Amino acid sequence: MKYKDFYNQSIDQPIEFWEKQSRIINWFKPPTEILSQDEHELYRWYRGGKLNTSFLAIDQHIESGNGEKTALIYDSPVTHKVEHFTYNDLLVRVEKTAGFLKELGVEKGDRVIIYMPMIPETAFAMLACARIGAVHSVVFGGFASNELAIRIDDARPKVLLTASGGLEIDRVIPYKPMVDDACDQSIYKVEHVVVLQRDFVTAELKPPRDRDWQDLYENAPRQGYVELDATDPLYIIYTSGTTGKPKGVVRDNGGHAVAMKFSMEYVYGVSQDDVYWAASDFGWAVGHSYIVYGPLIHGCTTILFEGKPTKTPDAGTFWRIIEDHKVNIFFTAPTAFRAIKKEDSEGKLKMKYDTSSLKRQFLAGERCDVSTLKWLEDLLKVPVIDHWWQTESGWPMIAQMTGIETYPVKPGSSGKPVTGYQFEIIDDAGNLMPRGKEGSLVIKYPLPPGCLPNLWNDVDRFKESYLDFVPGYYFSGDGAYIDEDGYIFITGRIDDVINVAGHRLSTSDMEEIVASHSSVAECAVIGVNDEIKGQVPLGLIVVKEGVDIIPQKLEKDLIEMVRQRLGAVAAFKTSLVVKRLPKTRSGKILRKSLRALANRETIALPSTIEDPAVLDEIEAIFELHRKAD
Ligand code: COA
Ligand code: AMP
Repeated sequence: MKYKDFYNQSIDQPIEFWEKQSRIINWFKPPTEILSQDEHELYRWYRGGKLNTSFLAIDQHIESGNGEKTALIYDSPVTHKVEHFTYNDLLVRVEKTAGFLKELGVEKGDRVIIYMPMIPETAFAMLACARIGAVHSVVFGGFASNELAIRIDDARPKVLLTASGGLEIDRVIPYKPMVDDACDQSIYKVEHVVVLQRDFVTAELKPPRDRDWQDLYENAPRQGYVELDATDPLYIIYTSGTTGKPKGVVRDNGGHAVAMKFSMEYVYGVSQDDVYWAASDFGWAVGHSYIVYGPLIHGCTTILFEGKPTKTPDAGTFWRIIEDHKVNIFFTAPTAFRAIKKEDSEGKLKMKYDTSSLKRQFLAGERCDVSTLKWLEDLLKVPVIDHWWQTESGWPMIAQMTGIETYPVKPGSSGKPVTGYQFEIIDDAGNLMPRGKEGSLVIKYPLPPGCLPNLWNDVDRFKESYLDFVPGYYFSGDGAYIDEDGYIFITGRIDDVINVAGHRLSTSDMEEIVASHSSVAECAVIGVNDEIKGQVPLGLIVVKEGVDIIPQKLEKDLIEMVRQRLGAVAAFKTSLVVKRLPKTRSGKILRKSLRALANRETIALPSTIEDPAVLDEIEAIFELHRKAD
C-alpha cells in the first residue's frame, strides 16, 4: 500500500485503522474499546487491553527463540567500555532490578525517579519499573538539584535511583551531592535512594535512606511481570512549558506499545535484524522511545552511547560506532552534526571508517538547517530524513514513513503527516489558514495512540496548555506552514520554549532565576541563533535604580545562578545590561521583537509598542556585543 492510502485510511476510519494496528503487539488480552473517553472527557486508547511493556521488550523475544540475540550494545568511549547484552541477559538484569525495587516496597502505581547517566543499568531500571507496574520518571542528568527537587515534589516517588556520577567528556560529574541537595530541598521525602557506585567516583551513602545498588541487586530475587491495563501509566517525563513548573507528560502502556512497534516498522522502516541507534539521552523522550522501548519492543538491536559527538575522543566517534556495530538506522539531533562539521568539515574522519551498513539517517529535536542537511547528504550518501515530534507525542508526527513509501526530501521541511495526525495551521484568532500561510500548528484531537493522554495530576493544565486554544485541536506550540504538496515546514516555537542543542528549555524558567538576583529590577531571556547549538539563551537585564553594578560581575553571578538552579544544560552564558525593555502600552515585554532584533531578522513593529525608541537602544547594545565577541 502507498503512503497516501495508508494515511487517508487512518484519518477517514481512525478506529478501524488503530484497531488493526493494535494487533501488531502481543496483548495478554486485546482491548475491548479502541477509543473511549475518561471522566475528564479526555480520550483513551485501547481500554480493556491487558499487557506488560517489559514483557514485550524482553520475554516475548525469548519465547519466540531469540533469547541469544543481542538486544543492547553499550558503547562508552568515555569509560572505554563496550558491552553486549542479549535478550536473555536483559531478562536477568531487569528481573533482579525489579526484584530489589519490590523489596524496597515499590508496588504497581508507585513512582520511581531515575536520575542516572547513560549506562545499561538505567535501561534495566526503566524496564524493571515497567515490569512491576511502577511509573518511572527519568530526569536528565544535566538538570540541577533544584529541578530534580521540583520533579520529586510532583511525582512523589517511593524510590530514587541514581549513580555515583557521570562523565562529561573527561570531567567527572558527581550525581550524589545533587541528589542529596534535591532531597533536602523537596518537601516530599523519598524513602529510599539507591546508588550505583561507578569505579571513577564513589558516593557517600547516608543510611538508612541510601542503599547500595550492587548489594541490593546481588541479593534480589528475580521478579516476573504483572498484567497491566492499557491505560495504566508507564512513565512520566517532565518537559519545559511556558511557566516555571515543568509539565509531567504521562505515557500509558497500551497506546505507547502500539505506537513504538508501529513507528519502528512504518516510520523508521526497521527490520528485526537491523541495528538501530538513537544518539540521545535517556532523559529525553527520544531516549525513552528509541533507545529503550521502540527497538526492544520491535525486537532488533539498540545502541546505548555514553559520549559526545566530538571529543570522545574525536569527531569520528559516530562513524566508528556505525562501523563497529554495523548500525543500519541512525537518529540524532542536527546540533550533533553541526558540532562534527565544525571540527571535520571535509569529513576526513568519516573516510577512516566503513559506514556502508547505514541505510537511513534521521534527524529531529530542532530545526535542521539546510546547510547541515546538504553536508550530511553529501557525506553519507544515504537518505537524510528530518522528522518532527515532541515529548508529548513520544513518536514522530511529521515524517517520511519509510516503511511504506519514500518521497523526495524538501530541505527545510520535516515531511508530510504521519498516519493518524491531521494538521492545520491557524491564525492568532484560531481561524484555519490556507495552504502556504504561516501560523500556529495544531493537530486534530484525539491524537493517535502513544501520545500523552494527560499531564500527571494536572488535568486543568493539560486542557489549558493543549486543548483550550482551539476546540477540537491539540495546540503544538510550534509555528509552521504547509505547502501545496502537503509538506510541512516548522518555523520555530511561538511560545517561551527554546531549543538549545536539541534540549527543550523554558526561557521563563531562566527569567525567574535571573529576576531573583538582588540587583535585577526586570529582565527578559530570549533565544538567539547559535551556529552549533541552534539556539542559546541571552538575558537582557534592567538593574534596580540606585544600585551600582559591574556588568561582568553581574553576568558571572547570573550564569552561576542559572547553572546552580536550572543546570549546566541551559547553557546560559550571556547577559547584557539595558536601560529599559520594550513593552506594550499594557506593560507586556515584547520578547518577539527582542528575538528578531537579536537574530537580525526584520521586525514588524507592534502597533501596541509603548516607545519604539527602546528597540533602537537595544539594537545598539546588540551591535556593541557582537563587535566585542
Ligand atoms: N550530566 C551533567 N552535565 C551535563 C549532562 C549530563 N547528562 N549533559 C550535559 N551536561 C552539561 C555539559 O557538560 C555542559 O556543561 P558545561 O557548560 O560546563 O560545558 C552543559 O551541560 C551543556 O551540555 P551540552 O548541551 O551537551 O553541550 P556541549 O557543548 O557539551 O555539547 C553538543 C554540544 C551539540 C555536542 C551536544 O549538546 C550534543 O551532542 N547534543 C545532541 C543532543 C541530543 O542528542 N538531543 C536529543 C534530541 S534527539
Ligand atoms: P521535545 O519535546 O524536547 O522533543 O521538543 C519538541 C520541540 O522541538 C518541538 O515543539 C519543536 O519546536 C522542536 N523540534 C523537534 N523536532 C523538530 C524538527 N524536526 N524541526 C523543527 N523543530 C523541531
